[in-house]
Amino acid sequence: MLASHRSKDEKIALVGFMGVGKSSVARSLASILCCEAADLDEFIEKSEKATISAIIEEKGEAYFRDLERFYLSEILKKEMKILSLGGGTWVFEKNRELIKGFGYTVIWLDSTFEHCWENIKTAAETRPLAKEREKTKKLFLERQRFYCLADFRFYVEAGMTPNEIAEAIIEKLKLSSKNQC
Ligand code: S3P
Repeated sequence: MLASHRSKDEKIALVGFMGVGKSSVARSLASILCCEAADLDEFIEKSEKATISAIIEEKGEAYFRDLERFYLSEILKKEMKILSLGGGTWVFEKNRELIKGFGYTVIWLDSTFEHCWENIKTAAETRPLAKEREKTKKLFLERQRFYCLADFRFYVEAGMTPNEIAEAIIEKLKLSSKNQC
């Protein structure tokens, strides 16, 4: 699609590895574009009254993935303009079909593993699938082939703030941030 022909009603979903900054960039995008953002992990935690970490630790990853798919279909129905997904959501074909079926433009926030790991390390207890560096790096590498199925790739340089990333995404997609408040 030509950048100049993009609709101002375009819906954006952010995907990418844990620790890349999806949630904070989604909040910045929403603030700049004067719209609401939704975060799938937060939605699951509020609905289930349990942390993602507790769900995975107590019931296992397969159970979490089923729950994640259910709440993904629920959150998509809300038609939020900005959606931040979990690091594994986009990896599953059924989830990709759901997301694209609702007309979202999918942006892969990409960065180096080291950059993600720096952020993961500081809150390791909240991410049961990223406890150990080498295993997490393997997961990072395995997932590249799924993330690259996104509509756009945006590379996050170390030191960029969420606002700077959001501004750059808006520029890249030629989204109008004017007259929307
Ligand atoms: C996961 C990423 C987490 C969360 C869950 C599983 C993953 O979200 O959904 O722990 O498989 O990469 P963040 O990417 O927001 O940390």
